[in-house]
Amino acid sequence: MIKKCLFPAAGYGTRFLPATKSMPKEMMPVVNKPLIEYGVEEAIAAGMNGMCIVTGRGKHSLIDHFDKNYELEDQIKGTNKEELLDDIRGIIESAHFTYIRQSEMKGLGHAILTGRELVGDEPFAVVLADDLCVNDGKGVLEQMVALYKQFRCSIVAVEEVPAGETHKYGVIAGDQIRDDLYRVTNMVEKPAPGTEPSNLAIIGRYILTPDIFEYIENTQPGKGGEIQITDALLKQAQEGCVIAYKFKGKRFDCGSVEGYIDAINYCYENVYLQDSKAELNKKKTEKQKRLLAVT
Ligand code: G1P
Repeated sequence: MIKKCLFPAAGYGTRFLPATKSMPKEMMPVVNKPLIEYGVEEAIAAGMNGMCIVTGRGKHSLIDHFDKNYELEDQIKGTNKEELLDDIRGIIESAHFTYIRQSEMKGLGHAILTGRELVGDEPFAVVLADDLCVNDGKGVLEQMVALYKQFRCSIVAVEEVPAGETHKYGVIAGDQIRDDLYRVTNMVEKPAPGTEPSNLAIIGRYILTPDIFEYIENTQPGKGGEIQITDALLKQAQEGCVIAYKFKGKRFDCGSVEGYIDAINYCYENVYLQDSKAELNKKKTEKQKRLLAVT
């Protein structure tokens, strides 16, 4: 039902300079995959096939990543290196990618509004690729899509954060309607320490109904002089309904050096090595089957 996922990816990634001087921050690798690929995989797992990417200057490698590279593919054809491209080939086959340039950096709300041309008039997901989410079971977006079917309104994913960290996030207050669900009554972008309405911080996963675009259009610049999605969502919550969902799973803030390193360590142990073992076992079983067929 929700087919499109918007990826605001025009930012400069200044916290990672000089690495991000000419490389998009979304292309920073977590073990062997760029950050944005994890987000795209999460969207595909949630049943989406339209990846709408809001890019900016200097993001060519991001666009190239989700396309064929004939020269490279020709070079490694028939070698055991070829299987390293299996995942990205699968992604390219199962989703289509559209891009639009955001020529001015006027905040996350403005980036989402820029994506309107790609999204059209339907509910859609938003992934901020530097929040990397990993799960044993269903991914965060898949969890949120199931909720959307029930509530049919905008949904933000939230996480409890330590008191000293709320100033880094959009923070919600709400009426609890289930263990893990709140109906949002207030939302503040990066509250000054001591003024936060709760310790429930919004993380980079949203499901938005298309009327959000009008709310953004009517939103004045807020925190940092930027057009904030948080402010538009608050208006939507006041006039309609917005749900905050305490998602299941682990989130790494790959916008910070510490979070990025934690993500690499975690994904190496729990994703990369596990996948390698599974791949090895698959090969062993195939070999055994072949041997059995011969004998
Ligand atoms: C953005 C949003 C903020 C949210 C955060 C999640 O902030 O404006 O509300 O909590 O993403 O990562 P940014 O991290 O881009 O400053």
